[in-house]
Amino acid sequence: MKRIAVFASGAGSNAQKIITHFKHSNTARVVVIACNKPEAGVISIAKTEKIPVFMIEKEQFFIGDGYSEALKARSIDLVVLAGFLWKIPQPLIDVFPNKIINIHPALLPKYGGKGMYGMHVHNAVIAAKEQESGITIHYVNENFDEGATIFQAKCNISSEDTPITLADKIHILEHKHFPAVIEEILLQ
Ligand code: GRF
Repeated sequence: MKRIAVFASGAGSNAQKIITHFKHSNTARVVVIACNKPEAGVISIAKTEKIPVFMIEKEQFFIGDGYSEALKARSIDLVVLAGFLWKIPQPLIDVFPNKIINIHPALLPKYGGKGMYGMHVHNAVIAAKEQESGITIHYVNENFDEGATIFQAKCNISSEDTPITLADKIHILEHKHFPAVIEEILLQ
């Protein structure tokens, strides 16, 4: 049985889908949620699901070992970033090479990089009058949104779409594909 750590600092709707997908799976379980925001919705999800939470402190994350020892001690096989905004420090990348993945709410390499997160992405996509957007699941390296792409899915943008309706379309794609792509990676 593989062991997944989910890093999330927002509402946690992706974290919830991943937890639910693997709850009765023969492949893996979500065994820890890591979060850097005490008020994040994902913390109550973890409580309800009885999954332990690591509260991530800025200093230990960036100056210490990036929690790599703590994650190693829990025999984590895959680190999944689902709405986690901090850059992943080198010690963590070194301990989990090609074992950290992220989901980005646009079709990278477009609309990625520092500051491109959440509604900033959807605002920029609509302002540029793009006709499509989508999701990118990718490996994490030391630069924001630059690791190798694992999977993309697209949605159309109509002239009636706003950043808010686009965000809804993107969430639907994320919820549909993210757990399945994680499972595929773990089975490789
Ligand atoms: C998702 O849109 C994800 O792509 C982005 O942050 C959002 C997290 O949403 N990186 P939620 O907290 O899973 O609802």
